[in-house]
Amino acid sequence: MDRAASLTHTTAAEQQPVLETDAEASARKSVVDDFAAYRALRRRIEDLEATGQTMPFFQPRDGVSHSVIRRQEKSLINYSGYNYLGLSGHPAVSAAAKNSIDKYGTSASASRIVSGQIDLHGELEQKLASFLGTEDALIFISGYLTNVSVISQMLARPDAVIYDSGAHNSIITGARLSGAKTFSYENGDWDGLDKLLTRERGNFRRGLLVCEGVYSMDGQILDLPRAVEIKKRHDILLMVDEAHSMGNVGPTGRGVCEVHKMPPSSIDIHMGTLSKALASSGGYIGGDRGLVEYLRFLCPGLIFSVGLSPPDTAAAIAALDILEREPHRPKRLAERSIYFRKLAREHGLTIGGDEGSPVASLIVGDDKKAMMLSKLLFEQGIDVQPIVRPAVSASTARLRFFITANHTEEQIRATIPLVAKSLEAVLLHQD
Ligand SMILES: Cc1ncc(COP(=O)(O)O)c(C=O)c1O
Repeated sequence: MDRAASLTHTTAAEQQPVLETDAEASARKSVVDDFAAYRALRRRIEDLEATGQTMPFFQPRDGVSHSVIRRQEKSLINYSGYNYLGLSGHPAVSAAAKNSIDKYGTSASASRIVSGQIDLHGELEQKLASFLGTEDALIFISGYLTNVSVISQMLARPDAVIYDSGAHNSIITGARLSGAKTFSYENGDWDGLDKLLTRERGNFRRGLLVCEGVYSMDGQILDLPRAVEIKKRHDILLMVDEAHSMGNVGPTGRGVCEVHKMPPSSIDIHMGTLSKALASSGGYIGGDRGLVEYLRFLCPGLIFSVGLSPPDTAAAIAALDILEREPHRPKRLAERSIYFRKLAREHGLTIGGDEGSPVASLIVGDDKKAMMLSKLLFEQGIDVQPIVRPAVSASTARLRFFITANHTEEQIRATIPLVAKSLEAVLLHQD
């Protein structure tokens, strides 16, 4: 048989996968058994199992993540998903995604720089730029990747990335990978940041201050005027991650610039995700033409990765169209957030974050208590996730409520008294 024929003709025996025996499989250790982080994780899982609790993470759900969710055959009021404007599952968004599959298939099938580009990519970028008020925009296949790849591309050794204690892991990872110096300050401590920059500004070339429009763990809305004042005084760039603010805050959902009535050019690098208000998956950067051209041709996370899939792109376009036509969605979200916080206050609960913010956190104290409270609420028909180490520090373990435009006042009225009563029970509980 010649070489080409031997590649295409195999015997039945050759088609069998190579398997190890049961004895070999059970004798084999995991490749991570001697990793300290894995051993610590195993201890935490075993601890949880010993107290008879079920693992609250990676639990599958059924159907769309609306204000009611189905898990383990139960219907629950849902505070665990960021379908903030109710656009995931919206018929027009689903139809757009399905039509794009018929036209383009399910994958972009190549990086955009080669043959992966489809018309929908340019359409979404133009719409995003026009919605944000920036000269141009660029989409990436993940929000996480957007931060990691853009920050690590833009900064290098003589530079500095400055972020605060609430920064998302993707920002910190991007900063570390860049090789630039990193500085961290306490979230909201603008005077502390100012002092830090006064002390350090002479020691780095370019500086990038990265803030979040709405902080994903605590729910504060960025004090953009302070951030802009500081970035100007110290001649550094400002990047704002609007994962939880784009579409959600401001009278028409245009994010923190709209909240503070500041021009979009106040922010040098607008970053956001398509996975939250826009009911899809992916991330974007908005900014001036030069910035977007630089990233389009030079950012490894774009060049060396497949283009955003046709259904994800089409879903985001359709969601953005609806958001522009229906500004009552962000308005209703703000009303529900205000109502949630008002009721919580009346029941003696201290909820983190600002009025109108879609993220509302209830600090419980430690990991175990946060998990117990989440479980107790689950049993009473409320789905809210515990946030524990390493996402937050051990003493600030919490429940994080995502409030959406689709929550009704009745649902919130049903929730808050149960949260107050259950929290009391958990805090009284002795280990
Ligand atoms: C502030 C922030 N930035 C970036 C991301 C990453 O976005 P994605 O989940 O769309 O990859 C998240 C995810 O929740 C986030 O909260």
